[in-house]
Amino acid sequence: MNSDADVGEIPLVAGQLPVHVAIIMDGNGRWAEARGEPRHAGHRAGVASVRSTIEECIRHGIQVLTLFAFSSENWRRPKAEINLLMDLFLSSLQRELKRMQSNEIQLRVVGDISAFPEKLQKRIRASEQATCGNRRLVLQIAANYGGRWDIIQAARKLAVAARSGDIVPEDIDEKVFARATSINDVPDPDLFIRTGGERRISNFLLWHSAYTELYFTSALWPDFDAAEFRRALDDYARRQRRFGQTGAQLEASD
Ligand code: FPP
Repeated sequence: MNSDADVGEIPLVAGQLPVHVAIIMDGNGRWAEARGEPRHAGHRAGVASVRSTIEECIRHGIQVLTLFAFSSENWRRPKAEINLLMDLFLSSLQRELKRMQSNEIQLRVVGDISAFPEKLQKRIRASEQATCGNRRLVLQIAANYGGRWDIIQAARKLAVAARSGDIVPEDIDEKVFARATSINDVPDPDLFIRTGGERRISNFLLWHSAYTELYFTSALWPDFDAAEFRRALDDYARRQRRFGQTGAQLEASD
C-alpha cells in the first residue's frame, strides 16, 4: 500500500496491467469545502475525473472499470445532496451516451436501482440496452450497491433455487456462488483504488476483492487525473500477486 509514493516511470507491459480496476471515488465534499464552495461543486468536478479515468482506461487497454458512485449507506446524506447526485447521474447518462457509443463502452449499473426515481431507472435501462454490444471497456457503475447486499441477494437466489429443487446445497461452491452475485461475468478486480485518504473498503466489492491489490491515495477525487492514475498503475505493476503461493513457486513457474 504505497500511497502517494514518488514512483519512477516504468514502462507498463500488458501482463502488468490490471484487467479490472475498481475505484472508490472519495473526497468530492472536502475538495469543494477547501475552496469555500458547496459540496455539490465537488460532485460536479468529480464527473470530470470520471471522464478522464475512463479515457485513461481506454488508452491503456484496461477492460473493466467499476466505480462506486452511490453506496447503500449514502441514503443517510442530506436529501438535497442525494437529489443532486441523482440529477448528476441522470444528466451524465444523457450527455455521455454518444461518447460511450463512439468509444465502444458497455455500461452496466450494479446495485439495487429499484429505489431510484423512475426516470433514472428508465434512463439506466435504456443506456445499458443501447451499449450492450460494445466491447472495448465494460464500465460498471455501482449505484445503491453494498458488498453485503450483494452477498445476501446471491444467498437468497441460491436458497430459492434449492427450495425449488433446481440445485442441492452441495452444488454450492465458489463458482456457483460467484455466478449468483451481481458482478458475475467479468474477472474479479485486480486493482482497487480509493482516493481521499481513507484506508477502508467501505462495503464495496467484498466477495470480489478477495485477492485484489489495494491502493490508497490522499488525492481527492476531483484531483485524480491521468498522472495520479498512472501512479496507481505503476504501483500495481510492482506488486507480486501470489494467490496463496510462495514467491519462489511463482519465480519457478515464470
Ligand atoms: C464521495 O465523496 C463521492 C460520492 C458519494 C459520489 C461520487 C459521484 C460522482 C463522482 C459524480 C457522479 C458519478 C457518475 C458515475 C456520473 P464525498 O462526498 O464522500 O467526499 P468527502 O469524503 O470529502 O465528504
